[in-house]
Amino acid sequence: MPYAPLMRLSADALNRFGETLGRELAAPAVIGLSGELGTGKTTFVQAICRGLGAQGLATSPSYALVHQYRTPDDRLVYHVDCYRLRSPAEARDLAFDDMVRDGAVVLIEWPERAGAWTPRLDRHFRLSYGDEADTRELEEVR
Ligand SMILES: Nc1ncnc2c1ncn2[C@@H]1O[C@H](COP(=O)(O)OP(=O)(O)OP(=O)(O)O)[C@@H](O)[C@H]1O
Ligand SMILES: [Mg+2]
Repeated sequence: MPYAPLMRLSADALNRFGETLGRELAAPAVIGLSGELGTGKTTFVQAICRGLGAQGLATSPSYALVHQYRTPDDRLVYHVDCYRLRSPAEARDLAFDDMVRDGAVVLIEWPERAGAWTPRLDRHFRLSYGDEADTRELEEVR
């Protein structure tokens, strides 16, 4: 999947782009998704998971910052939403290092909120509102 310049995307197009990214993704991989509330970060994560063919695993409600999936070739996928971290220090308990060491795919919403605990991102995308309803702009950060 080549570098993504600024793209204006409908919800369908964002879903398709995420699915393609997921199909081509080789674990281990760490992907960051930044952008204001409601710009489509979770939508994009779910599309990547579909592309990976990943099945959701049960999530303990007390730890809903992290959702786990498993791919058909038995890789773990972690979807981590850092929005509700009260401080970067809380991200230490998420154990990003262990996820990366285990060869997982790690998809992180609001990676900047984890501060210095954010693992090195292989890809970093930013979503923003487009100038028309139901369009979003997706840009790769590097
Ligand atoms: N072009 C688009 N791309 C993505 N989502 C869109 C688009 N147009 C409309 N939407 C809608 O915007 C919403 C995006 O919600 P989503 O939960 O994915 O955002 P988010 O960035 O994860 O928000 P949060 O910061 O609260 O976690 C969905 O309801 C989706 O249907
Ligand atoms: Mg979200």
